[in-house]
Amino acid sequence: MNALLPLLQDPPFYYPVSPISMVRGRGLRLHDDEGREYLDCVSGTFNLILGHNHPEVVEAAKLQMDELVFSSSNFNAPAVDALARALVAISPANLTRAHLRSPGGSTANEGAIRIAQHITGKRDVVTLFRSHLGQTFAMTGLSGFSTHRTPFPNVFPGGVQVPAPYCARCFYKQSPDQCGMLCVSRIDDFIRYASTGSVACVLVEPILGVGGNIIPPADYLPSLKAFCDERGILLIFDECQTGFGRCGHMFAADYFGVSPHIMTLAKGMSGVGLPIGAILTEDRLTGLDKLFHGFTNGGWLPAAAAALKTIEILQRPGFLENVRHVGKLLCEGLDGLRARYPFIGEVRGAGLMIGMEIIEPDNPAANLPDNTRALALQKALLQQGVIIRISEHGRGNVVEIRPALICTDSDIAEILQRFEQACAGIHA
Ligand SMILES: Cc1ncc(COP(=O)(O)O)c(C=O)c1O
Repeated sequence: MNALLPLLQDPPFYYPVSPISMVRGRGLRLHDDEGREYLDCVSGTFNLILGHNHPEVVEAAKLQMDELVFSSSNFNAPAVDALARALVAISPANLTRAHLRSPGGSTANEGAIRIAQHITGKRDVVTLFRSHLGQTFAMTGLSGFSTHRTPFPNVFPGGVQVPAPYCARCFYKQSPDQCGMLCVSRIDDFIRYASTGSVACVLVEPILGVGGNIIPPADYLPSLKAFCDERGILLIFDECQTGFGRCGHMFAADYFGVSPHIMTLAKGMSGVGLPIGAILTEDRLTGLDKLFHGFTNGGWLPAAAAALKTIEILQRPGFLENVRHVGKLLCEGLDGLRARYPFIGEVRGAGLMIGMEIIEPDNPAANLPDNTRALALQKALLQQGVIIRISEHGRGNVVEIRPALICTDSDIAEILQRFEQACAGIHA
């Protein structure tokens, strides 16, 4: 007998894999190979803005595949041409150039940084504590989590991390009504004492996703933009999670009424999970030579066709209004559970980007994160057939809830009912 056979009884993945094997998906529903149905409340990995296998988007990608699967970015093609125009049309007015040579979010962020460095002639990048901007070496080096950086050498030494606008756990121990926006003004100290003094850009998620659904107070992003403008620093919004309707508006830039100098996009862009990324910039920021940022699968044609269809669907009358409506229902419903379950802390949401803090129930006023209970809730929800995620890639205390934007009132009622059952289970 072949000595390798016993080893091959387990799937030969490098990493541990779930015993659950998914075989079919439609909308919010996923099915495993044993016929069990799940309610996917995180849209895949927050990327299936239109849910699993949205038929119109899948059809658009198939049609493109029938015509032409791949074209080198040395040539134009109708799908990428139309997508560039559509992205410029739907994004804030100052963003007039689309760079479509990135296959995903990490690479789009790297391209945005290169553009900022090229234009300003400066080097360093300011990012936020708790930010997650991707997993390439540079993005790992800029991560707002030491846990992500520690195992590897510092391959991006020019990163400076500064406190996030996390009012529920303010770094400066202030309250939002009288804080003086220290999380913006004190960035000067970090630049002066912790950077090389040569700062090209500030790169932020307008709402921190993996970090715990951290929604800044209304003044934060306008103050940050003014701070950057005054210092000739470029402000980059990473809208990989917040973009394409997630916050009930096309972009978080619209939700907050602040236009960055550069915006990066990926994840939800193709609606159903085909890989694609984009960088949008102001006109004055063009000039980075093509050879410095381009990847084989950047602007992949079927994904571009899917993205175009996704944008068309998001623009249909009432679509984003419904996201705001169901988002409010879900957020209020989850917040309502707090009265019965003292381990639920702050529930915060923008559209369908919702986070629920899990705290130690014995002394709720102390607002102490309860990571163990958050994982227990995740497990209890899975038993109820509900898929959620926990912040910080499972190490945090915030339940992340981001169902597809096609959610209906009855989907929300079902999600809430299952949350109630799971919460009751772990409360007992
Ligand atoms: C906010 C944000 N930016 C960037 C990325 C990286 O995107 P990608 O995995 O497509 O490289 C992620 C992925 O989780 C993300 O959440």
